[in-house]
Amino acid sequence: MNDNTHNLKYLTSIILDNNSAFGMLQSACNQMYMLFESISKISRRRIFTHVKQSTVLQSGDTLPPQVAGSCIFDYIRTVKFLRGIKKTIDAKLDKTPGQPLRILYAGTGPFGSILTPLVPNYKEHQLKIDTIEYHEESLNFFKTVIKELSLQSFYSNNFLCDASQFTNENKTQYDIIIAECMQAALRSEGQTAITFNLSKFLKDDGAFIPGNIRISALLLDKPELMSIKAYEPPKISREDLLNRLSSKRIELGEIFSLSKNSRDEMNLVGGSSEILQGVVKTIPNEISQNMVIAYSTLIEVTKGIAITGYEPCALTALHYEPEEIHIAPGMKIRFDYNMGRKPKFEPVVLKDDRT
Ligand SMILES: C[S@@+](CC[C@H](N)C(=O)[O-])C[C@H]1O[C@@H](n2cnc3c(N)ncnc32)[C@H](O)[C@@H]1O
Repeated sequence: MNDNTHNLKYLTSIILDNNSAFGMLQSACNQMYMLFESISKISRRRIFTHVKQSTVLQSGDTLPPQVAGSCIFDYIRTVKFLRGIKKTIDAKLDKTPGQPLRILYAGTGPFGSILTPLVPNYKEHQLKIDTIEYHEESLNFFKTVIKELSLQSFYSNNFLCDASQFTNENKTQYDIIIAECMQAALRSEGQTAITFNLSKFLKDDGAFIPGNIRISALLLDKPELMSIKAYEPPKISREDLLNRLSSKRIELGEIFSLSKNSRDEMNLVGGSSEILQGVVKTIPNEISQNMVIAYSTLIEVTKGIAITGYEPCALTALHYEPEEIHIAPGMKIRFDYNMGRKPKFEPVVLKDDRT
């Protein structure tokens, strides 16, 4: 281990400690970013000058390296994923001591920030990691990072491809597959298509991370929603957000759940290759005039470690589509999900006989 690896291990220990105050977690994430920035020689300034912001694949957007690397600053995301992944690795190593865990990490970005910080905690014979990234520039930064941290011996293959089309030529059966290619309400990025494709390569008792992503629909007063959308983590506390949401809110309930089994449980809308047929909800009579549909996201990273919609995290922030349908009492809405180039929920108003 060199000085950088020691430093990374120390910062990670702060993040993994349940007793660390939020300020300490923030500071550890900021320092971790600076460490990755300096060893990879990535320039954050390019975020602002990058003309081409993302590359759109058949399954959605892929973020360019500078933007993907900045995900570290979504502190709750970084902390909870690191804790959840550590917990999953440790549980699996306890079950099968002596055997290396096969891990596939899709969408590393330039740093692999939700796995790389954990690797120095393990011995080389314990982890055998494959990675997937679509952006070649990100992959090159990532290779520099693991080299500078002297962690190359943990990594077997670094695949440069679209994770939603990955064919696993080596026929590896993975113990753990990690993918965080998502935004709130599973918009824009290809998390769903990637989960559908990669979960085929998990062992029967393998763990997909995140283990479950649940989306619920709710009706909210539009002016109130606009004010909540304006928050920037961590400027608003969970309590404030709960208070502001407590009035003028009607829960319609869960409309989507994404896990390693979802591919077998969901149906495509007839004739489509990418629109998943959703559940039907009825708009109650007691709605008020300004109400619109919003989506809340809950991410269960692994059992016991979740990010809820009330935490200051970009991935679970409330989401609202401005061009969405106008609701009326008694209306039946089917919440279909489009997992094509622009992934998002596409609610369909049903006629009475189409429920
Ligand atoms: C939200 S960033 C997260 C980066 C990294 N996991 C981290 O936590 O710092 C998602 C990354 O996944 C990559 N990605 C998104 N969709 C992909 C796909 N279909 N195939 C391969 N990589 C993808 C993007 O290029 C980006 O680097």
